[in-house]
Amino acid sequence: MSNLEELRRRREAALLGGGTDAIQKQHEKGKLTARERIDLLVDPGSFTEIDPFVTHRCIDFGMEKKRIPGDGVVTGHALVSGRPVFLFSQDFTVFGGSLSGAYARKICKIMDLALKAGVPVVGLNDSGGARIQEGVESLGGYADIFLRNTLASGVVPQISAILGPCAGGAVYSPAITDFVLMVENTSYMFVTGPNVVKTVTHEEVSFEDLGGAATHAEKSGVAHFTAPDDAACLALTRRLLSYLPQNNREDPPLVQPEDHPDRADEELDSLVPRDPEKPYDIKDAITRIVDRGTFLEVHGAYAGNIVVGLARLNGRVVGIVANQPAHLAGVLDIAASLKGARFVRFCDCFNIPLVTFEDVPGFLPGTDQEWNGIIKHGAKLLYAYCEATVPKLTVITRKAYGGAYDVMSSKHIRGDFNFAWPSAEIAVMGPKGAVEIIFKKDIKGGKDEARLIEEYRNKFANPFVAAEMGYIDDVIEPRLTRRRLITALAVMATKVDRNPPRKHGNIPL
Ligand code: HXC
Repeated sequence: MSNLEELRRRREAALLGGGTDAIQKQHEKGKLTARERIDLLVDPGSFTEIDPFVTHRCIDFGMEKKRIPGDGVVTGHALVSGRPVFLFSQDFTVFGGSLSGAYARKICKIMDLALKAGVPVVGLNDSGGARIQEGVESLGGYADIFLRNTLASGVVPQISAILGPCAGGAVYSPAITDFVLMVENTSYMFVTGPNVVKTVTHEEVSFEDLGGAATHAEKSGVAHFTAPDDAACLALTRRLLSYLPQNNREDPPLVQPEDHPDRADEELDSLVPRDPEKPYDIKDAITRIVDRGTFLEVHGAYAGNIVVGLARLNGRVVGIVANQPAHLAGVLDIAASLKGARFVRFCDCFNIPLVTFEDVPGFLPGTDQEWNGIIKHGAKLLYAYCEATVPKLTVITRKAYGGAYDVMSSKHIRGDFNFAWPSAEIAVMGPKGAVEIIFKKDIKGGKDEARLIEEYRNKFANPFVAAEMGYIDDVIEPRLTRRRLITALAVMATKVDRNPPRKHGNIPL
């Protein structure tokens, strides 16, 4: 056999992973193979593999007789919508996708290259965890990856698609990355599986309930997105990448807009009900204001009282943060604060301007919230907005009450443009609560409470007191919001703002 033939034979063998039987099993579970997934993720023909011939070095438990080229992970680089990415795709057909020392070194190699080149990293996860036969070498391999995830955080975007098991400490690599996508019914993430849970806590719980896609999307907030199958998950990953810059030194990609920047939307003028107790859907406002069809909601199933997502305004990428009056009246609780803070910090890392829509009655009262630390968690959202130096635009649509007025990208914490709709109410608290405190004695003495509330509402429950002070830059007609935001974004595109030099701040974790 010539040298060339030998090379081709070895390459062919590497393409087969764990072999045809294992591939068939993978398909029977409704999952694609590592290479099929790469084909769906990247531009056709653009994948270049690295390290296809790497094998493990383990000689225990008969492993010396079982060496499979690639060792259970396919690594390399490719193009997604014409832009480079580095990627790894774990191959469950080889030793259950379990991570050996050699396998970890392959992942570390592409992560090091990605960091040097300033290119995003996409990880396709489908693994039985640490390769049990290798013991501590495998654990060390995970730690090598965790370190790189951390050092790359805020430098290049990192995306984790979970397409199978992801258990034990292995979950911490995806958890450090910017986005986690999970496939319904075939993927799960947990630190300890149902068997260990049963032994330790006597709870009986299924894989799906403990750590399936729905659990992490709705309950824990670990997953930012879910998808019905591998193909949908990979398509979503491609879409997500289209909003992101390659690294923290670049702006996100600008596209030719298909929607006119001056498009006015009359429906917005009547979106906010006259009755301040009545809800409306803030997503209705968002989708009417941003470029048509560009809103990509993040964390959609978690903490519905705050909405976050990526969108475009006249072709420029923006990060949207919006209180949702249609869910728990848009109140800020622990989950909403965490969700909002994480997203604000993500946008700030990657030069994505923030557009905040505000309609919030305040922070949620109660022992549950206080005892679980609404003070420190609410402070995270405040801290995230305060430290963000990207352009910050705010639109108060209705309530901006109490501390929440300050937190939601107010002028005082470096909001660049702060607008209010005529329906805005900017006050320390709602009229009823305020009157009950400051006119307590008068009300006891028989004064007409309803009249006092009306007087208070007329005085404070509007945007003009704040506008007179310059805390609101302008009170705008709702229908013109799109145009005003686009103009503000354009003028702030060259914004430079820096925080004082320091090792890092001490965000209240
Ligand atoms: C070595 C493994 C493996 C592992 C699976 N395999 N997990 N080999 N190390 N961790 C092998 C199996 O022996 C089997 O090989 C093949 O992969 C497919 O596995 P099956 O069990 O047949 O598949 P399935 O029924 O789909 O079950 C998948 C599974 C299960 C739920 C993931 O394999 C499992 O529970 N594995 C162990 C998970 C685990 O406890 N990992 C350690 C977590 S702790 P053959 O040759 O029979 O086909 C950890 C620490 C990380 O990861 C710490 C980081 C800090």
